[in-house]
Amino acid sequence: MSAPSVTHCCTTLVLGSGVAGLTYALRAAQHGPVLILTKKFRSDSSTNRAQGGLAAVLSPTDSFDLHVADTLEAGAGLCRRDVVELVVREGPALVRSLTDLGATFEHTEDDSDGLDLGLEGGHSRRRIVHSKDRTGQEIESTLLSAVAKHPDITLLEHHLALDLWVGADGAERRADRRCYGASFLDQETGAIGLVRSDQTMLSTGGCGKVYRYTTNPDIATADGVAMAARAGCSLGNMEMIQFHPTCLHHADAKSFLISEAVRGEGAVLRNVAGEEFMKDRHPLGSLAPRDVVAREIDRETKRRGDKFVLLDVSSIGEDRFRERFPAIAARLETYGIVAGREPIPVVPAAHYMCGGVVVDLNGRTEIGDLFASGEVAFTGVHGANRLASNSLLEASVLAERAGAVEPQSPEGPEPPPPPPPGTDPPRPDQGVILDHEWDAVRSLMMNYMGLVRSQGRLDRAITRLEEMREWSEDLYRTSAPSSDLAELRNLSLAGVIMARAARAREESRGLHTRLDFPETDPVPRESWCRLGEGGVEVTLRPLES
Ligand code: SIN
Repeated sequence: MSAPSVTHCCTTLVLGSGVAGLTYALRAAQHGPVLILTKKFRSDSSTNRAQGGLAAVLSPTDSFDLHVADTLEAGAGLCRRDVVELVVREGPALVRSLTDLGATFEHTEDDSDGLDLGLEGGHSRRRIVHSKDRTGQEIESTLLSAVAKHPDITLLEHHLALDLWVGADGAERRADRRCYGASFLDQETGAIGLVRSDQTMLSTGGCGKVYRYTTNPDIATADGVAMAARAGCSLGNMEMIQFHPTCLHHADAKSFLISEAVRGEGAVLRNVAGEEFMKDRHPLGSLAPRDVVAREIDRETKRRGDKFVLLDVSSIGEDRFRERFPAIAARLETYGIVAGREPIPVVPAAHYMCGGVVVDLNGRTEIGDLFASGEVAFTGVHGANRLASNSLLEASVLAERAGAVEPQSPEGPEPPPPPPPGTDPPRPDQGVILDHEWDAVRSLMMNYMGLVRSQGRLDRAITRLEEMREWSEDLYRTSAPSSDLAELRNLSLAGVIMARAARAREESRGLHTRLDFPETDPVPRESWCRLGEGGVEVTLRPLES
């Protein structure tokens, strides 16, 4: 295929339509026209699925210091304190601005001015602002309606970004390179297009689909991470993948999350024999930080040879459960489970990418005019394990800050556009082969790069993932593009990056457990990965703040 020519021009290009992309678009529209490309329907985002809520210091018994301390504690020594402080302090203002935009959050029954603050694992105070168990949906729909009313924002659905347009090629210093936009596949027409923009925001979400079991929606195929890596950005802490402890275990349920807020309201974890095993494993019991709970569930199921553990919600009761968690209760009932009457079978599943594309406090990547925010970005807030409900907070704060940055008009000639995909018609069996490779990547990651890792397992995963990466890259260069192929190309690259980062980190810390390195290194280090000529290179850098 010949290189695509420019099909759209705008001041700001936004890739993705979750909380980060929409918040940024609304702010950046002050600088000129904004184009949002989103790869499925506009509300197909991880934000829309977020059940728990948004952590913010709003209670008189709470303080910024406590929220910072809880975040640092969960992050197992790997959070950047300055970023944590900045993000935490913005919490109350963020809740006010979402409320001004029209979002409604639950209030206490007895105090119409007070928000009903929930509790989740690792929090020492009630500070989770929520809309029952549909908080993400409330925020997403509020932001989407603001975007729809904005005269300078256009949103195109079913447009899958393929590659960033970055130049000048061959520039010696990455700091000299800038982003001119991105190429995309219009999934409805099959056409390839090219957006020319003064600045580009990556807000494409995470990488949950790289695992067989995940709470993430289908869009979470590591597109932003892979595009940024191919463009030459550094990626930080990509081995730090958070497994949510309580994903519903049911043959017909595809990745359904049972919010941590359920444990915040009093539910406890029991093994299949009914023993409350978390009691002896952490002072916070079932409400310990997620890394601890997920690992202990894994240990308990392996120890007993069970497939799942049970979430006992009897202390909440049937009526209260239905009132506080209406979406979860309704969904459970479709599987014949009445919460409050019987326990809920649960297992850990991949949930959140704590690493991502390295950015500064304004969301700037190492490439000029390229920004990242939300799950795809690495700010250092989450360290080695994200504190529950800190993600909507971090995404919004960073997106707001990035949106305030004045765009620069580029000087000099445009570089060549990103390399186009191929044109060969797909072979008749291509669909089946792609399906198999998708399955293979996801199984490998689950088996060898899951909750518990070792050098032998990681080496096996890396060898196979490298082959898949090469195979999918070659096929992409020759074959007419499809979303399955483009996503596999991204998933396999992300898998290699994650496994190589995990291989390099020879310690156990937070979400990263190495059987062969059970101790925690006294010097906390971030892993930084780059895709170079010779493949993915990893360095470990002492934490600066
Ligand atoms: C949950 O509701 O348990 C998810 C909240 C989060 O991941 O922060």
